Amino acid sequence: MRKLIAGNWKMNGTSADLPQLTELADSHPNPAVDMVICGPATLLSRMAATGLSVGGEDCHTKVSGAYTGDISAQMIKDTGADYVITGHSERRIDHGETDALVAAKTEAGWAADLHVILCIGETEAQYRAGDTLDILRSQMDGSIPDAATAATTTVAYEPVWAIGTGLTPTPDEIADVHAALRAYLSNRFGEDGAEMRLLYGGSVKASNAAEIFALDNVDGALVGGASLKAADFSPIVTALENSL
Ligand code: PGA
Repeated sequence: MRKLIAGNWKMNGTSADLPQLTELADSHPNPAVDMVICGPATLLSRMAATGLSVGGEDCHTKVSGAYTGDISAQMIKDTGADYVITGHSERRIDHGETDALVAAKTEAGWAADLHVILCIGETEAQYRAGDTLDILRSQMDGSIPDAATAATTTVAYEPVWAIGTGLTPTPDEIADVHAALRAYLSNRFGEDGAEMRLLYGGSVKASNAAEIFALDNVDGALVGGASLKAADFSPIVTALENSL
């Protein structure tokens, strides 16, 4: 399985930002890792037209129907996208998404032939209480469907308290969590679990990327703020390539 560097533009980006993608594509014409930018639905077709691999940030569980304002995985695929994020903490927390809903969205993504980046992560209170691994195992029990394979699914560990805060766990903490996640995935999914990509996410930037990518069981990153500008994201891509 190739390593994966994924950007997440969240609710950012208009036409004026498309040149960032052209710049990124020009800087990495043949990346040695998989590189994807997940962006707002309004821009996905134009993002895909740059030739970069792109993804949605969320999808509905159904293919179509009377769901005003929602977007199906098939619609995301139709833009030229290859990926979709499910279970991001901003969806789980701000939109009350449960593990069961995240599992259904993940299955919807697969059905549309999208590779799913499924996010899990503990809150600051859970981290402080020492509950991180229990929370993550319970999120994986509930939100990763049994049919997950390494080819269809990537798991992103994103501590909620590290997202957009400039805070990160220590390298030892990330390594310990990723070792536990790998053990869980291998135990539950066998060979596929051993190969399933595990991303770290939360305040990844050029200055900490190399240290994080050097850790065992870190197969890439999901990057928010530092993915918005090619000048910030490009060195992170290079750091992952250099870790190979
Ligand atoms: P951040 O966001 O890199 O801005 O912390 C990461 C994410 O939410 O995926």
